[in-house]
Amino acid sequence: MDWTWTAKRRRQFCRGALATCSLTMSACAGSQSILEPAGMQAASIAKLFWWMFGGGALVWILVVAAALYVIKVQPGERQVRKDQWLIVGGGILFPAAVLSALLVYGLSLMPHSRLNEQADLNVNVAGEQWWWRVQYETTEGEVVELANEIRLPVDKSALFNLTSDNVIHSFWIPSLGGKVDMIPGRTNQMLLEPTRTGIFSGACAEYCGTSHTFMRFRVQVMKQQAFEHWLTHQAQPARPPATAAASEGLRIFMSNGCATCHTIRGTDASGRLGPDLTHVGSRLSLAAGTLPMAPASFVSWIDHTRNIKPGADMPPFAVLGEDKLDALAAYLSGLE
Ligand code: CUA
Repeated sequence: MDWTWTAKRRRQFCRGALATCSLTMSACAGSQSILEPAGMQAASIAKLFWWMFGGGALVWILVVAAALYVIKVQPGERQVRKDQWLIVGGGILFPAAVLSALLVYGLSLMPHSRLNEQADLNVNVAGEQWWWRVQYETTEGEVVELANEIRLPVDKSALFNLTSDNVIHSFWIPSLGGKVDMIPGRTNQMLLEPTRTGIFSGACAEYCGTSHTFMRFRVQVMKQQAFEHWLTHQAQPARPPATAAASEGLRIFMSNGCATCHTIRGTDASGRLGPDLTHVGSRLSLAAGTLPMAPASFVSWIDHTRNIKPGADMPPFAVLGEDKLDALAAYLSGLE
């Protein structure tokens, strides 16, 4: 087969390369992108990325130019002195200067010194298998627990205290900042300051077990007043069931062992193993970001926990049957 570089092949190659580039770049947009920063820390990471990208592109161009020079120039035409300078300059001096500059610049962006500043808000997040336990402290000193959802006021700093009592997880909200590991026996801290409102996605960035990939969460950045209103509401006990189906759901919840693992403040359910469900119906997603928030999602989740999240501690409760699952879903989705 003839593989010469014809004009047609060149056009096909360019088209393919363009399609690949636009596909890869489109994956960089959206609610989980480091290239669309929505926070101060993410902005400095994006800046560092573009400087490194520019530096890398420049070095690549110089290397290609050097390779072309070697191919084009006949051995007899080369001047040894010039070649030696090319090796010393391009092989030692230039990379040393570029790498030193990038190192100094990268170190200057490191956030350590800023952790000592007083943050506007403290949020504790613990990595569980495989979900996120989230705690806020209200201005009255009360601790409010929820799961798999973080809300933050815009233009305010939030200090995250990150822990784990099982394996190593890594807490990452790409739109807001870098990732920090959650290591058993330690509390790692991270400061984030969102600069625009919106809903962003977070994920676990350290392989932590079977359902690592299903360990997701949503982050909603809100105006200060809306945030305070939300936190005050989250601190309140659960609302009592509003319909007959929901009352039946509460009865089923209490009589089938759900309360052993879950807390619903305002009821007798005070289990600590699984997520706090006091306001589960108000969350943006269910089962650590894997299902949309809807009554049907509660049914699917309770019915097939381990199909949706392999290795989950919560066993599937298919044994309850359709009617009981519907009643449970009516109660839980009403917990707004
Ligand atoms: Cu937790 Cu990966």
